[in-house]
Amino acid sequence: MASVGGVGPPDRATAINIETLAELLFFTGGITREMEFPGGAYYMRAAPATGALYPIELYIVCQGIEGLGAGIYHFGPGDFSLTELRKGDYRTELSLASGRNQEIATSPVTIAMTSLAWRNAWKYQARSYRHWFWDSGVMAANLLATAVSAGLSSKLVMSFDDARVNLLLGLEEGKEATVALAPIGAGLVAPPREQTRSRSQLNLETVPLSAKEVQYPEVWRVHASSSLDERGASDWIKAGLAYHGKTNSSGGSHYPLQLSDVDGVKDTLEEVILRRGSTRRFATKSISFSALSAILYSSSRGVPFDFLRPGVTLIETYLIANSVDGLPPGAYSYIRDAGTLVQLKAGSFRRLSGYLCLEQPLFSDASVVLFLMADLQTILKHLGNRGYRAAQFEAGVVLGKIYLSAYAQRLGASGSTFYDDAVTDFFSPHAANMNVMVAVGIGVPDYVAREGKILVGTLNKAQLMK
Ligand SMILES: Cc1cc2nc3c(=O)[nH]c(=O)nc-3n(C[C@H](O)[C@H](O)[C@H](O)COP(=O)(O)O)c2cc1C
Repeated sequence: MASVGGVGPPDRATAINIETLAELLFFTGGITREMEFPGGAYYMRAAPATGALYPIELYIVCQGIEGLGAGIYHFGPGDFSLTELRKGDYRTELSLASGRNQEIATSPVTIAMTSLAWRNAWKYQARSYRHWFWDSGVMAANLLATAVSAGLSSKLVMSFDDARVNLLLGLEEGKEATVALAPIGAGLVAPPREQTRSRSQLNLETVPLSAKEVQYPEVWRVHASSSLDERGASDWIKAGLAYHGKTNSSGGSHYPLQLSDVDGVKDTLEEVILRRGSTRRFATKSISFSALSAILYSSSRGVPFDFLRPGVTLIETYLIANSVDGLPPGAYSYIRDAGTLVQLKAGSFRRLSGYLCLEQPLFSDASVVLFLMADLQTILKHLGNRGYRAAQFEAGVVLGKIYLSAYAQRLGASGSTFYDDAVTDFFSPHAANMNVMVAVGIGVPDYVAREGKILVGTLNKAQLMK
């Protein structure tokens, strides 16, 4: 794998073989840590997840992968295996369900991220709906990075006919749903010749996750209100591509990002992902402004969505700097297009940064706490209810990029929940129209963490085909 920073892009790949597929799946959703608890072993994965509950499942729809028959498969991280659900080329079906998406039609593999809702809802109840998007977003960040590292193009598709895609993957209605689709390697295979479609149910037997499940109908009501049919998926892309984003600016002291000093990163992406683990204790030490600049810059280059023009984003970053060499403590708005931080308030807000993150001391000790915000009212006006999913998901992807950039620089990070209105109030009047999507603390860990490993077997065909 190529390095996260410093080294130029790898040569473009001309095919995807089973080993590359295994890398994509492992560094997105594989098991990297085993923790011993009195109740038994607990397994942690390559990407972070709210409450370590891992509600996101991965499926693949593939054709033309060397060493793997065309079909639809479910990925099991526990034994690192693929289970075949359907045999044959289903790219047409998936592409038609996604507004005739050409990347899906010409990619050897599309990875679908789906939410198994109860796995998170038993703890977080109806609030768990947002976690679908955060938890899949951080995985998507790992996937995008792994694809780049393998010389493969990638896209994140959010416009699709929900019912058709869920049916194709054999998801249980009212329990699971597709969040996003990621075609990898567009153009590497010819589009399907046959326009075959399948509407058959899979009717697979499933093992219940718990003896009893509590229903949270509001989750499914909200989800249904942002669901699309085939026609809606095409229209939604058009609405998205017509959205130009907003220009975020303001007065106040400007602090241009310091990007001259950031090529010290020598680790491979693989090393960075294995090292990553949410920081549980920050030392109240400073990070450099150039480290913060690198994190802001690399996490804000835009996400390759099907529904947004390149470079357009739904996310604006606000932050509280507690301890940054070269940047006075205070509250800031990051003006991406100008590459600068604008100071909104000067002063020490250490106690407040922890308070805003649901009173967790971890986020008082962090050197910087970033709040990824979106102007939901404007987004919903342009993108309808589906815009809610899009903004939460993009925030998850940006969060994942922040994690990777922090760990690439041997710093630490942890995602955080927050008091929604209190955050908006704190950054207002500048953020008066903004809603927080997700928060993240970054800083210097107060301990040396055990590195993760590729825990489940070797990444090879035998393992994946078990
Ligand atoms: C969106 C998101 C929100 C999170 N919120 C919190 C939080 O509020 N407090 C906290 O201590 N950790 C939080 N975490 C970190 C998770 O607890 C952590 O990712 C999970 O335990 C898995 O461990 P790992 O990240 O070390 O692999 C969050 C993670 C994510 C992705």
